[in-house]
Amino acid sequence: MTGSATRTVTVVPLTADHADEVVTIYQAGIDEGNATFETVAPTWEQFDGAKLPEHRFAALDEAGRVLGWVAVTRVSDRCAYAGVVEHSVYVHPDARGRGVASALLKALVDSTEAAGIWTIQSGVFPENSASLAVHARAGFRVIGTRERIGRHHGVWRDTVLVERRSPHIG
Ligand SMILES: CC(C)(COP(=O)(O)OP(=O)(O)OC[C@H]1O[C@@H](n2cnc3c(N)ncnc32)[C@H](O)[C@@H]1OP(=O)(O)O)[C@@H](O)C(=O)NCCC(=O)NCCS
Repeated sequence: MTGSATRTVTVVPLTADHADEVVTIYQAGIDEGNATFETVAPTWEQFDGAKLPEHRFAALDEAGRVLGWVAVTRVSDRCAYAGVVEHSVYVHPDARGRGVASALLKALVDSTEAAGIWTIQSGVFPENSASLAVHARAGFRVIGTRERIGRHHGVWRDTVLVERRSPHIG
């Protein structure tokens, strides 16, 4: 992909056809050091097994290349939390700053609300100002900062818990 990639973004269900690009974009975000505690991207099989099949999307350019993806996991097996999911959103470094994450989050909100899911949450490193901005723009609110919640390359790090509570459910 080049920096002159086209401007048109189409959001489609994420399938095995997108596997290699999804994993590559995941690893690019990981390598920047402020996206996740993970240090190695999962294989497609691990990703596919962990993420809910109904609520995963890829953003494509006009040539069908993957610009970014969003996917969710359930946070709990307890029925009280049946409508609560945790999401990840990753955009190719060359495709940032032109609304790809916003388009993916809109698709995710529409899809989860249609399925009766009422809360989407995520943990964001406080240093990840792009992610905090994207989530604020998408209607997520900051719940608070979880202090020294996990170790990343041996260093204790905080996360900011963000959530979007659907106004349409309940
Ligand atoms: C965070 C990330 C997904 C944002 O993707 P993106 O496609 O560049 O974001 P968008 O272009 O949709 O931006 C949405 C809004 O956030 C703002 N924003 C995006 N990046 C920003 C930055 N670096 N600083 C300030 N604001 C930023 C945009 O200005 C836009 O606001 P606007 O609609 O009012 O103009 C992308 O930087 C990324 O993939 N990072 C690595 C992986 C990662 O950290 N994922 C999140 C894990 S919690």
